[in-house]
Amino acid sequence: MQISIFGLGYVGAVSLACLARDGHHVVGVDIDQAKLDLIAAGRTPVVEEGMIELMKAAVASGRVTVTRDTREATLRTELSLICVGTPSAPNGSQDQTAILKMAADLGQALREKTSKHVIVFRSTLVPGTVDDVLRPIIERHSGKKDGTDFHVCFQPEFLREGSSIRDYDKPPYTIVGARSEEPIEFLRRLFGHLPCEFHQTSIRAAEMVKYSCNNFHALKITFANEVARLCEALDVDPFEVMNLVCEDKQLNISRAYLKPGFAFGGSCLPKDLRATLYLAKNRDVALPMLNGILPSNRLHIDHAIGKVIESGKRHVAMIGLAFKTGTDDLRESPLVLMAEQLLGKGLALEIYDPDVHLSNLLGANRRFIESHLPHIGALIRRDLKEVVANSELLILGLNDRDTLKALAEYVREDHAILDLVNIGTEAPLKAKYMGLCW
Ligand SMILES: NC(=O)c1ccc[n+]([C@@H]2O[C@H](COP(=O)([O-])OP(=O)(O)OC[C@H]3O[C@@H](n4cnc5c(N)ncnc54)[C@H](O)[C@@H]3O)[C@@H](O)[C@H]2O)c1
Repeated sequence: MQISIFGLGYVGAVSLACLARDGHHVVGVDIDQAKLDLIAAGRTPVVEEGMIELMKAAVASGRVTVTRDTREATLRTELSLICVGTPSAPNGSQDQTAILKMAADLGQALREKTSKHVIVFRSTLVPGTVDDVLRPIIERHSGKKDGTDFHVCFQPEFLREGSSIRDYDKPPYTIVGARSEEPIEFLRRLFGHLPCEFHQTSIRAAEMVKYSCNNFHALKITFANEVARLCEALDVDPFEVMNLVCEDKQLNISRAYLKPGFAFGGSCLPKDLRATLYLAKNRDVALPMLNGILPSNRLHIDHAIGKVIESGKRHVAMIGLAFKTGTDDLRESPLVLMAEQLLGKGLALEIYDPDVHLSNLLGANRRFIESHLPHIGALIRRDLKEVVANSELLILGLNDRDTLKALAEYVREDHAILDLVNIGTEAPLKAKYMGLCW
C-alpha cells in the first residue's frame, strides 16, 4: 500500500519503519527538517530498542521517502496515518494546534485529489474531536464529503516507549472507529495480520477507549504504590502483597467489577475501605486515591437521585433494596441510602425485593433495619403488581430474571424506568427507559 505518515515522533517513526519492513511504500512527513534528514540518511529520530537496525533496513529497501510537503504526500498515497503530538496545554486541556493545522492542510491537499483517500487519526484525541472538529475542517478545506470522497477514522495507538517495535507487532488489540466498512478494509490489510483481535466501533468510542486505557494504567500504578506506602508503614512486604493480589484471576485481574452499574455497598467494601483509611491516617500515610473512592461512590448515588428528581415523577417504586441481587443483606446498601433521600425529598415510595422480607431477616441485618431504618421497613411490599400499579417511575436496582419477567407484564406505557443495573434490552419495553449513565 502507498501510505503517508504525518508526525515522525515515537508513534510515527516506529510505524514508518515497521510498515516499510512489512513491504509498504511509506512517505514520512514532519515539520522538523532534522527528523526528515535523519530518516533520509537511514537513521532513527527516536531512541528505541531495535530502531537503529530497523530504520536502516527500511530506508535501504527504497520504500521510504520523506518530505515536508503535505500536498505531495497526500497526492502520492492512498492512506494517511496522522501521528502528530497532542500535548497538554497549561490549563490541562489538550493542545490541538498541530492536529488542527494538519486537518486544514490535508483538506487543502484533498481538493486536488481525484481518487478516494483514507485518513486515519492515530494521535490521542479527546472524544468527539474527529467527528465534531476535524471532519468539518477537512470537508470545508477540501470542498468534499467524508464517506463519499474520502474517509476519516480513528485508530488508537497502544505502543509503549521503550518497547514500541515489540508493541507494534504484538498490540493488545487493534481498534478502529469508523462510520463505514471501506476504511476498515484498508486497515485490515495493514494490521489484520497482527496476532490480536481486530475490533470495529464508533469513532467516539475508539477515542474514549484510548483515554480509558491510559487512565486505567495510571490508576493501577497508583493503587500499587498506595498499597506499598501503607505496607511500608506496617512493615509488610509490598511485593509479596501485590503478587498475591495479582494471583487472584477471578476477582482481581479479571473483568469482575469493571462493568458500569450502580454504586457499591454491602457489609464489606465500605467498612474495609474506611478501616484502611483510618489506619493510614493513624500512620501519617496519605492515600489520596483510595480516599477518593467513597466520595466518588456517593456521587454515583446522587447521580441516580438526580435522575429521579429530573423525571418529575412523584410516585416511585424501588425494585430491589439489598446491596446486590440474590441477597437479603441491607447493610450499607446504596439503594437503602437512595430510598432515604427520596423520602426526604417528599416522594411517595414503595419497595419490592423478592429476597427481602422483614419477617425473615436475622441477626445484624435485622438489627440494622430495625435500628436504622424502621421507616424504610414499613415501605416494603410483597406484591410486585400492586407496587407497580401505584407508581409512575420504577427504579430497577436488581437483575433478577423472574422479577423482570413479571415486570414486563405489569409495566404500563406511561411508566418511566430508571435502570441502575443495565438490564438493557430485557427492560420491560413498554415503559420510557432511562439508563443510569447509558
Ligand atoms: N509516545 C507514545 O508512547 C504514544 C503512545 C500512544 C499514543 N501516543 C499519541 O500519539 C501522538 C504522537 O505521540 P509521539 O510521542 O509520537 O509525539 P512526538 O511529540 O514524539 O512527535 C510528534 C511529531 O509531530 C510533528 N508535527 C507537529 N506538527 C506537525 C505537522 N503539522 N505536520 C507534520 N508533523 C508535525 C512534530 O514535529 C513531531 O516530530 C500523541 O497524540 C500521543 O498522545 C503516543
